Amino acid sequence: MGHPILIDTDPGQDDALAILLALAAPERLELRGIIAVAGNVPLPLTQKNARRLVDLSGRNDVPVYAGCSRPMVRDLITAENVHGHSGVDGYDWPDTQTPLQDQHGVDFIIDTLISAQEDEITLCTLGPLTNIAMALVKAPQCARGISEIVMMGGGFFEGGNTTPTAEFNILVDPHAAHVVFASGVPLTLMPLDITHKALATPERIAAIVAQGNETGRACAGMLSYFNRHDVEKYGSEGAPLHDPCVIAYLLKPELFSGKKVPVQIETSDGLTLGMTVMDWWGTTSESPNCMVMNQIDADGYFDLLTEHLGRLP
Ligand code: RIB
Ligand code: CA
Repeated sequence: MGHPILIDTDPGQDDALAILLALAAPERLELRGIIAVAGNVPLPLTQKNARRLVDLSGRNDVPVYAGCSRPMVRDLITAENVHGHSGVDGYDWPDTQTPLQDQHGVDFIIDTLISAQEDEITLCTLGPLTNIAMALVKAPQCARGISEIVMMGGGFFEGGNTTPTAEFNILVDPHAAHVVFASGVPLTLMPLDITHKALATPERIAAIVAQGNETGRACAGMLSYFNRHDVEKYGSEGAPLHDPCVIAYLLKPELFSGKKVPVQIETSDGLTLGMTVMDWWGTTSESPNCMVMNQIDADGYFDLLTEHLGRLP
């Protein structure tokens, strides 16, 4: 049996490739459930997109849940300008077959963690942290079942991508991020400082298409759509492929390196709302609470992703 994980996500083209990467590695990752959260697009679309990905992968053994439809305090902000109206524009999706589970996603997270062995489950978060924070607030005892939370979010030397200081996942729900970062649970973070070193260039997209399967065609179409916003914004060869870094870390941790430092979240309104404030040089007496990754073997990352996507239908 593989490493038991939950994926909390707001698909999102980059979420889609992360989820497909996990679904392609059942011998390594026991994916006990996918929980959708409002983020890139509203919850009715993120939950539908998660179900579309289970359909595409053929892994109908993996249940999909809907979690929270809005952040804990702030009004929801979304990113259709990046991801399109559906959230996974770039591919002609067939009708969705996989059903949505009736149980609320937050309650599924709680039940899974409470019934788990101590330190058993890895939480993989690809979107705003609303569901995870709500689970920790509603049932603090569920933290005992968490081995580690591996998150895509934040930025420091790279700054922000939604404001000059804030990355989207953290900015959508900075209060939830504060709850998670203050929880004491072991944290590993994939911030913009690392994802901006992993660009979905045309050559890398071509390698995915060359796998010759429907999954490869879907991913290439999504990435081509996803690229247009960031290529124009950054003048780069391709968009940073953020979310698959979380799953790639579980499959091949040697692709990544970083430093364990204190990370705190700015929750006050103003220029730095949603900033991940990292004490990288130890200027405070704060205890290090998060392994922040900032180096990646980008070619190795795309080789791992491409090979696994080729395993799917
Ligand atoms: O800032 C990038 C993150 O925000 C990614 O997870 C992307 O999918 C969006 O959720
Ligand atoms: Ca995401």
